[in-house]
Amino acid sequence: HRLPDLLKRLPKAELHMHIEGSLEPELMFALAARNGLSLPYADVAALKKAYVFGNLQEFLDVYHAGTQVLRTEQDFYDMTWAYLERAAADHVVHTEIFFDTQTHTGHGVDTDTVINGLHRACVDARSQLGISAGLILCFLRHLSQAEAFEALEQATPHLDKLLGVGLASSELGHPPEKFTEVFAKARQLGLRLVAHAGEEGPPAYIWSALDALKVERIDHGVQALKDPALVARLVREQIPLTVCPLSNLKLCVFPTLAQHNLGAMLQAGLVATVNSDDPAYFGGYINENFTQTFAALGLSSQHAYQLASNSFEASFIDASAKQAYQ
Ligand code: HPA
Ligand code: ZN
Repeated sequence: HRLPDLLKRLPKAELHMHIEGSLEPELMFALAARNGLSLPYADVAALKKAYVFGNLQEFLDVYHAGTQVLRTEQDFYDMTWAYLERAAADHVVHTEIFFDTQTHTGHGVDTDTVINGLHRACVDARSQLGISAGLILCFLRHLSQAEAFEALEQATPHLDKLLGVGLASSELGHPPEKFTEVFAKARQLGLRLVAHAGEEGPPAYIWSALDALKVERIDHGVQALKDPALVARLVREQIPLTVCPLSNLKLCVFPTLAQHNLGAMLQAGLVATVNSDDPAYFGGYINENFTQTFAALGLSSQHAYQLASNSFEASFIDASAKQAYQ
């Protein structure tokens, strides 16, 4: 029992978790009731039954339906606080939280409401839970670059509350280079850059995330192993990959966890990390990702220390703080 124990207790950073994907069914129903809204599911059990996905798009449709209950700043606060409590219990000491505003502005909820709720929870978590948290605004890639620019503009009054920008939603058919100019603008504003690439999409999308968007980390990136020249570059430049094993399993990127390539990634010298992506939908928070993946792949305590070290190395905390965690 020593390895599962080590995995649970290791101090770690989480770098790939969409806050809307941490909305648990119970809280979803509570927020619906609070806001006088009804959900298209009779109860929590019926909702959970809908959590079976054949691919990314099937998940995104269900996820989007769940976000409709989020209306007030307090809703965003409560959702974020619930995640931060769970993360702290998993010995996450630093987390970089993805969120999007376009989903919510599409429902008539303004950007200020979203960011203020998330930020207030992050501030409270630092003093009350001892966890540091940053916010990364993800543009929705199924929408246009013009709409991404609009989202960035609406978030600009809150620049001091943001760590960076990312790119999420439907990958296939929406290559990174569609967002070249808006990422350049975000970089000018001093924001850090990440993008989902190589989750379902080809290695070419990882190349263009690096070359066109100039991102510092790749979210998922599991398809990189199909391209040896890309692997060589990612290793040479030590570009981190934020891998989400249970997400990959639930979205059928790999047929079983035993067939996941996390072990091969570490073996190749890639700076891989383990993360939960959308923990309320994919069967668990970060420690569940660690314990299930280690059991399925037969990984060791050495791998555990490597992954924890990678998570801090790959994070956007400053260099002196990084040193303290290594
Ligand atoms: N991929 C793309 N978009 C997302 C994901 C994901 O895994 N989770 C939430 N939005
Ligand atoms: Zn993701």
